[in-house]
Order: sequence, then C-alpha cells, then structure tokens
Amino acid sequence: MSVTGAARLAGVMGWPIGHSRSPQLHGHWLERYGIDGAYVPSTVPPDGLEKALRALPLLGFRGCNVTIPHKTVAAALVDMLEPAAARIGAVNTITVSPDGQLTGTNTDGFGFLENLKQGAAGWRAEDGPALVIGAGGAARAIVATLLDSGVPEIRLANRTGEKAQEMGASLDKSRIVPIPWNDRAAAAAGAALVVNTTSLGMTGQPALDLSLAELPAKAVATDLVYAPLTTPLLLVAAARSNATVDGLGMLLHQARPGFAAWFGVEPMVDTALRQAVLAG
Ligand code: ATR
Repeated sequence: MSVTGAARLAGVMGWPIGHSRSPQLHGHWLERYGIDGAYVPSTVPPDGLEKALRALPLLGFRGCNVTIPHKTVAAALVDMLEPAAARIGAVNTITVSPDGQLTGTNTDGFGFLENLKQGAAGWRAEDGPALVIGAGGAARAIVATLLDSGVPEIRLANRTGEKAQEMGASLDKSRIVPIPWNDRAAAAAGAALVVNTTSLGMTGQPALDLSLAELPAKAVATDLVYAPLTTPLLLVAAARSNATVDGLGMLLHQARPGFAAWFGVEPMVDTALRQAVLAG
C-alpha cells in the first residue's frame, strides 16, 4: 500500500533485524484498517541506539518497537518509563509525545496473558501454581504478569539456579519458589500452567527435556517458541490431552498496544493475521 506525505510512521529497531516478523504483522494491520501509515525495520547497532531513538521525533515518527539486543538499554534511554517496563527492566515499545519526549513500556507480559486467555479460555490465574522454565528476560516479563494477575505460586526452574533466586528476590519472594533444575519434572505436580520461556525446542535447538508425567490433566501448557508452532513440549502435552497454547499469539498480542498508540486503531488478533505472519 502506498503512503502519502501525511502518513503516520513507526518501526522496529534491532541488530540484526532481518528475522523480525513485526513488519509483516503491522503491515497486515495497516492494510486491513486502510491506514495511511508505514512500519519500517531498521538495523541499529548498540552504539547507535541513543542517536536513533532521539531522531524519532525529528523524523516525525510516532514511536517504535525495540528488540534484541536493545530492550534493556532502551529502558535507560527513554524519558519516561511506564511501571510495567520499570519492573521488568526492559522496554519493547516506545511512544513519542507531541513535545518529543520518549515513553517506554513493555507489552511482552500483556501479550503473553492475552494469548493465554485467547488460547485457553478455561484457564484462570487462581487455578493453581504455574511452573515457569527459564529465568531470562522473557521469563521476567511473564513472571511479573502472572504475579499481577493473581497466580498463587510461581515455581521457577532455571538451569542456572542463582538467576531464579535473584528473580524471586527482586519480584516477589513470597510467591516465587526457585526449583532446582533437576527437580523440574516433579514441580509439575499440582501445577495449573507450565510455560517454557527458554529457546529450547526452537528449530535447530535441542528439545526442552521436561517430563509431564506429574502434570495434572486440566493444566495448560504453553511455549514462547513459535518456530516450530508445535514444539516438542506442546506435542507431549497434547498427546496426554493437556490444553496447549503456541507462542505465535504472544508475538501478535504484544504488538497491539503499540499499534493502537501509533496508528489510532485497536487491532484484532485473528486467524488472518496468524496466516499473514506465518506466510512471512
Ligand atoms: P530471553 O530474553 O529470550 O529470555 P535470555 O535472557 O538469554 O533470553 O534467557 C535464556 C533462558 O534460556 C535462560 O533461562 C537460560 O538458562 P540459563 O540462565 O541457565 O542460561 C535458558 N537456556 C538457554 N539454553 C539452555 C539450555 N541448553 N538448557 C537449559 N536452559 C537453557
């Protein structure tokens, strides 16, 4: 779709950026809603991030996404940090105010929760403990969101145990229970949700080694990995009739707040969008 001189502009900065699906995602919505706008990917090296962000108001951009490796540094560079981003310590969405100030937020947790609600309608936060595998940046956003949504206990299993303990200490010592890596399968007992936040199971990576033998039948399994859509973890969960939610929806839902802020329309996540993003 062509744009006019009055087009609304946004984009995504990463390093590298070629793998990002965000341009297809926002491009699909721009087309669907007939918006005079553009969403452009930019390759920005780490030592150029500050200049690139400061250029946004000058270039007339309404904001942008930032992705790997910029999420943490961006949190220190913006003028204002929304509470979610401050708690997570990372920014993925930036908006430019009319006076040129940059506000950073983090919509990863929102995307995770919306995807879970859409994909597993029966799941309720209060249903029981969540078993979260991994304690990296993505896990932090998800754990913070699960805590806010009222999950009674989060069992956090990470290969490097100290990282799980650090996250527990900084987010909520009373509800986060660090689990020794070798006890992760046993920690599925009584859980209502199991989440893989590591890259294990991604194409070209080994599968996550997690027995679900102890997982209750009514528990939901979800994976942040979306290539392949059905990861080895989700395959095992589905075979024992647990509800499963794939990771693509998180990517789609986390994009909603940015799109609404920059382009002025609350966009829908549906099958047509999934197909457009998968077709790449
Ligand atoms: P992200 O921001 O995507 O979460 P990250 O911060 O690099 O990425 O975190 C990667 C997570 O995957 C970590 O929890 C990491 O475990 P460690 O803290 O022990 O490194 C986990 N991970 C990566 N490869 C792994 C592997 N082969 N086995 C177990 N965990 C792994």
